[in-house]
Amino acid sequence: MTFVVTENCIKCKFTDCVDVCPVDCFHEGPNFLVIDPEECIDCSLCEPECPAEAIFSAEELPDGQEIFASLNEELAKLWPSIAEVRDALPDADDWKNKPNKLELLER
Ligand code: SF4
Ligand code: F3S
Repeated sequence: MTFVVTENCIKCKFTDCVDVCPVDCFHEGPNFLVIDPEECIDCSLCEPECPAEAIFSAEELPDGQEIFASLNEELAKLWPSIAEVRDALPDADDWKNKPNKLELLER
């Protein structure tokens, strides 16, 4: 089992999640973070830290967010690891909770 970053992270990238992960299993893309399912130890520490409430257990993904399990797995192999908190993206507060952001995902 693993935790999964879902759609609401896109164009926000607050990175609070990175600060608490004991195994540094987050990977960073241009406007989204993902969790490497092979590194995640399922500790759940990151879930309550995300201001956008974008992190869920893979077993409790909200309806419509199922695709993010495979996206996290795929992109974690391509993107570099991130272990330190960075500034959120500009306008992150405006993009928080906006629907249909998947098409804005940059690779
Ligand atoms: Fe890291 Fe724990 Fe979150 Fe997995 S559940 S990404 S190990 S903080
Ligand atoms: Fe994204 Fe939330 Fe982390 S917006 S970068 S999953 S704190």
